[in-house]
Amino acid sequence: MRIAIVGASGTIGKAVVELLEAGHEVIKMGSTSGDVLIDMSSRESIRTAFDKVGRVDAIMSTAGQVSFKPFGEYTDEDWDVSLQSKLMGQIRLTEEGLNYLNDGGSVTLTSGITSDFPIRFGTSATTVGGAIEFFAKSAGLEAPRGIRINVVSPTVLDESIPVYGDFFPGFLTIPGKEVAQFYKRSMMGLENGHTFKCFGGNC
Ligand SMILES: NC(=O)c1ccc[n+]([C@@H]2O[C@H](COP(=O)([O-])OP(=O)(O)OC[C@H]3O[C@@H](n4cnc5c(N)ncnc54)[C@H](OP(=O)(O)O)[C@@H]3O)[C@@H](O)[C@H]2O)c1
Repeated sequence: MRIAIVGASGTIGKAVVELLEAGHEVIKMGSTSGDVLIDMSSRESIRTAFDKVGRVDAIMSTAGQVSFKPFGEYTDEDWDVSLQSKLMGQIRLTEEGLNYLNDGGSVTLTSGITSDFPIRFGTSATTVGGAIEFFAKSAGLEAPRGIRINVVSPTVLDESIPVYGDFFPGFLTIPGKEVAQFYKRSMMGLENGHTFKCFGGNC
């Protein structure tokens, strides 16, 4: 299959690329690095990027920023980071990406364990993560030409413990190479509108 991965240089993205490159053609995308540059915050950038990429069988997003702050201290600008990057960035990518997907293709987005298990300072992550999952639940049903839309919701990756570990006390972690399998399942399986909750074990 021909797969476009937005966020390919990131912690999750690298693991997904490594798994899928073995048997597929992978186009790596990001705002500062990759085969084709793309900025998910701009529809124009998404269209320009996919005009270069051409038609694909799967689009994956392993990108999306959120702001972490104590509840009550978020400014509108803080909310905008999470809403415009992680939520609207992935929604825009899906909406525009449909025009470049082959029949029976798939979109796989990324939320996170905070959608189910809130953490301190994580209200915006929980809010947008939950919204992405509900977006896929509905958009997947309406998507044309047999295209499916799913979400992967990982717990903290082993590789991210040095960065996020203090925010997730007592949470079980998961290696990136296991998380990557859920992106493969989303692409090759039957599920649609589904959130793969990879919180450790065969979930
Ligand atoms: N790591 C974890 O433990 C974990 C667990 C659960 C959920 N998540 C979620 O998974 C997502 C990815 O996490 P990560 O840790 O892999 O992130 P990361 O290492 O920071 O990587 C982010 C990726 O997104 C790309 N990117 C950033 N802004 C972009 C934009 N505007 N347009 C297109 N690409 C953009 C970056 O490439 P460029 O710099 O080239 O743009 C990079 O490839 C995040 O939403 C995060 O909340 C992560």
